[in-house]
Amino acid sequence: MAMAMASFALQLMLLMAAVLFGYSAAANVTYDHRSLIIDGKRELIISASIHYPRSVPGMWPDLVATAKEGGVNAVETYVFWNGHEPTQGHYYFGGRYDLVRFVKIIQQAGLYLILRIGPFVAAEWNFGGVPVWLHYIPGTVFRTDNESFKSHMANFTTLIVNKMKQEKFFASQGGPIILSQIENEYGDIEMVYGNGGKPYAMWAAKMALSQDIGVPWIMCQQYDAPDPVINTCNSFYCDQFTPNSNSKPKFWTENWPGWFKTFGAKDPHRPPEDIAFAVARFFQKGGSLQNYYMYHGGTNFGRTSGGPFITTSYDYDAPIDEYGITRQPKWGHLKQLHEAIKLCKHALLYGEQINLSLGPLQEVDIYTDGSGECVAFISNVDEKHDQHVTFRNTSYLIPAWSVSILPDCKEVVYNTAKVGSQISVIEMQPDNLHISTMLPEGFSGIKWDIFQEKVGVWGYHDFVVNGFVDHINTTKDSTDYLWCTTSVYVDDNEDFLKSGSQPILIVESKGHAMHAFVNHELQASASGNGSDSTFKFQKPILLRAGKNDISLLSMTVGLQNAGPFYEWVGAGVTSVKLEGFNKGVVDLSTNAWIYKIGLEGEYLNIYKEDGLHNVKWISTSNPPKNQPLTWYKAIVDAPNGNEPVGLDMKHMGKGQAWLNGEPIGRFWPRVSSINDDCTPKCDYRGKFFPSKCGTRCGEPTQRWYHIPRSWFKPRENLLVIFEEKGGDPYQICFSRRRVTSVCGLISEDHPPSNTAYNKQDSSSSIRPPAGIHLECPGSSRISSIKFASFGTPQGTCGSFQMGACHDPLSVSLVEKVCLNAQECLVQLSKENFGEDPCPGLLKTVAVEAVCQ
Ligand SMILES: *[C@@H]1O[C@H](CO)[C@@H](O)[C@H](O)[C@H]1NC(C)=O
Ligand SMILES: *[C@@H]1O[C@H](CO)[C@@H](O)[C@H](O)[C@H]1NC(C)=O
Ligand SMILES: *[C@@H]1O[C@H](CO)[C@@H](O)[C@H](O)[C@H]1NC(C)=O
Ligand SMILES: *[C@@H]1O[C@H](CO)[C@@H](O)[C@H](O)[C@H]1NC(C)=O
Ligand SMILES: *[C@@H]1O[C@H](CO)[C@@H](O)[C@H](O)[C@H]1NC(C)=O
Ligand SMILES: *[C@@H]1O[C@H](CO)[C@@H](O)[C@H](O)[C@H]1NC(C)=O
Ligand SMILES: *[C@@H]1O[C@H](CO)[C@@H](O)[C@H](O)[C@H]1NC(C)=O
Repeated sequence: MAMAMASFALQLMLLMAAVLFGYSAAANVTYDHRSLIIDGKRELIISASIHYPRSVPGMWPDLVATAKEGGVNAVETYVFWNGHEPTQGHYYFGGRYDLVRFVKIIQQAGLYLILRIGPFVAAEWNFGGVPVWLHYIPGTVFRTDNESFKSHMANFTTLIVNKMKQEKFFASQGGPIILSQIENEYGDIEMVYGNGGKPYAMWAAKMALSQDIGVPWIMCQQYDAPDPVINTCNSFYCDQFTPNSNSKPKFWTENWPGWFKTFGAKDPHRPPEDIAFAVARFFQKGGSLQNYYMYHGGTNFGRTSGGPFITTSYDYDAPIDEYGITRQPKWGHLKQLHEAIKLCKHALLYGEQINLSLGPLQEVDIYTDGSGECVAFISNVDEKHDQHVTFRNTSYLIPAWSVSILPDCKEVVYNTAKVGSQISVIEMQPDNLHISTMLPEGFSGIKWDIFQEKVGVWGYHDFVVNGFVDHINTTKDSTDYLWCTTSVYVDDNEDFLKSGSQPILIVESKGHAMHAFVNHELQASASGNGSDSTFKFQKPILLRAGKNDISLLSMTVGLQNAGPFYEWVGAGVTSVKLEGFNKGVVDLSTNAWIYKIGLEGEYLNIYKEDGLHNVKWISTSNPPKNQPLTWYKAIVDAPNGNEPVGLDMKHMGKGQAWLNGEPIGRFWPRVSSINDDCTPKCDYRGKFFPSKCGTRCGEPTQRWYHIPRSWFKPRENLLVIFEEKGGDPYQICFSRRRVTSVCGLISEDHPPSNTAYNKQDSSSSIRPPAGIHLECPGSSRISSIKFASFGTPQGTCGSFQMGACHDPLSVSLVEKVCLNAQECLVQLSKENFGEDPCPGLLKTVAVEAVCQ
């Protein structure tokens, strides 16, 4: 029966897809001062950024479906030039870069698409998305009035536009693309480019318009975008934004529902109440298009992360987490917000707007349309105080820093500060590596094969130079690694040989990181950080009489992705000195330095099936610990179950990892300073900024590294890890990401559930009381009720406690509705909770249920 229903549903979906798209006619997309106009009708857009190369094709349908279920009607993505044209003139549109397949999935889901071509995109993506090779075409200067750059940019833009046209992807052709973007946040730095700035911006707009795509173009943060290009806002708040002409609508292309992570910094979070507040304020103040950047952040696989120092995870604290699981309550709170806004759509888009002051920091915006429909948004921007306001003779309590939405100008269906959606507890559950061969009795560890990378130059050196070269100019980003090696001769009569005092090695670098070896032994590692990539270190070292080798492994950790003239920012060693010789300081900076680009293992592709046999691996059940420059490989089974998988690298040093030749990315469990300010409970009230609500102080910024399920075979997967400085391979393990329990917390004064709200007849319809909706993911079910209290429970999900007032029947009542169910609704009604345990008090119900 279940099967039959499923296949019927599938047929229905296919049928609907055919009706919606198979024969869909071209849509006419224009705009006026209020909104986009699609086929003559104003449209309200709530959009979700999902970047196709930051997940895998196997995840795309679910991500798009989850976004749709979250109440968005559009998806936004950038286009990633350096992924599509990795070498000049050689294009790639396969795998994670299969843009056409991605757009088709969005089309089939019945969503619109906003295509931000850029092709400069920033995006915390390597080199801002522009291919590194372009920087090395003589006479090229990025993002200014420069013929070489403009010619390449125009040609790539045309290539993408033509590809979209060929598939009939523009709305003007019947496809999902309703908007396209050229350039990215250029207005913020246009002045820095002097005489080249403005002409370039105007040229970019004109070039875009000449593409004739039949839908409008946008330029974000471009205050001088020429007509008819729409300038849009990117910020945490855009309610105060106004476009540069009365004929353009108010669009918000980047609402940041979190922030990206930097290796060695704390993990940023933005509270859902504040995101909802910002969105509600935007629509209150006349906005008509809002996009969450990111809605699913995903993963910077391989070496795609920008930087320097941006983590491999691009989770972004987004409504869908890196692994594709809804982040709750954020996702659900925004879903309910979208439902509330949609109830207001017609009056918002067609109504007349008036605003009234209801207090010093409280105001209402009322939209009334021709049919007499009335909607109101009441806001309280006071950062501290809840406030009673009177609107149309009714009193409303508006919490601090919140907006209440009244789709009939009477009843509040949503308040941005009252979170009623499910809270999920997500854990990374260790799942030991399973090796694919029989193990000796009692042997529980994994069998690793190792290959030792040489210190310094391997094979033939690339070149010798007196002094230092720029790291990026030399590697051209073909690898993170550059070896620089020299030697120093120590005379027998140096005092330090006798006194036992050690000379000091002093190294300075433009960045990003380095390991220093003396006579083949690792002496020190150093790196810059997210705010300053340069570093300097001093370290006592052991030198012997005679010749000593000094080998520096210089590294990049993601190239610059934004800023004026960012492509000229260099990296690498700038000075090397030795202190403590009889004659004082010995400067090695002008020595003859021998250079080697990359590692032998990289060069021989030993992380791939077909390159594996290019070196002789040493088989060992006792792999070395804390050994630098070591490649580890193991053949492993896929973890059990079907939950998403993260590779736990807490006990490793720094390096890169691959599964079956697919690039998991850079790992680096660099720890955030314990002195960083991690707020245990973050106050959503008041303006948000990225460092406001951090977690993971004193812990690695990123411990787990996402390996998409689709990269696994059931058995015999090739896992390869390159460790630069030393770690403990015994402790590497897979972890399965699981929702272990779900919670709900709701008070009697919560707005009633608005899904059942009937706008036509709001006065007489009996609205269901507020309730807690709990849902375990996938096929898991509620196996027990860990906590339930109707009364005055305290605490947060995972640590709820009974308050002074508690209905003793709470647990059994909730068990009755929820036990063994995949989802359930606990309503705060008299029928559910009979006796009032404490009359006169505002009561709350809190539940924690275990999913299994
Ligand atoms: C598209 O819509 C605009 C305004 O809504 C209208 O002026 C224009 O004639 C329409 N174009 C077509 C081809 O229907
Ligand atoms: C590119 O721009 C730079 C600086 O504006 C200029 O010196 C150079 O001649 C330009 N090259 C070309 C090919 O336009
Ligand atoms: C861009 O395309 C035009 C037309 O095909 C071509 O003449 C020009 O050389 C191309 N520019 C670059 C930089 O490849
Ligand atoms: C209404 O909104 C405008 C524009 O934001 C503002 O200048 C004005 O003070 C507001 N009026 C009231 C009564 O709040
Ligand atoms: C509010 O109450 C006053 C006095 O009772 C009445 O005159 C007015 O019409 C009422 N306004 C609304 C919008 O109901
Ligand atoms: C980054 O490094 C600079 C220079 O070493 C230092 O002054 C700064 O405090 C560091 N910032 C962080 C966030 O660690
Ligand atoms: C890279 O090389 C180019 C060309 O030689 C030079 O102009 C540029 O300054 C170098 N960049 C750095 C950061 O040294």
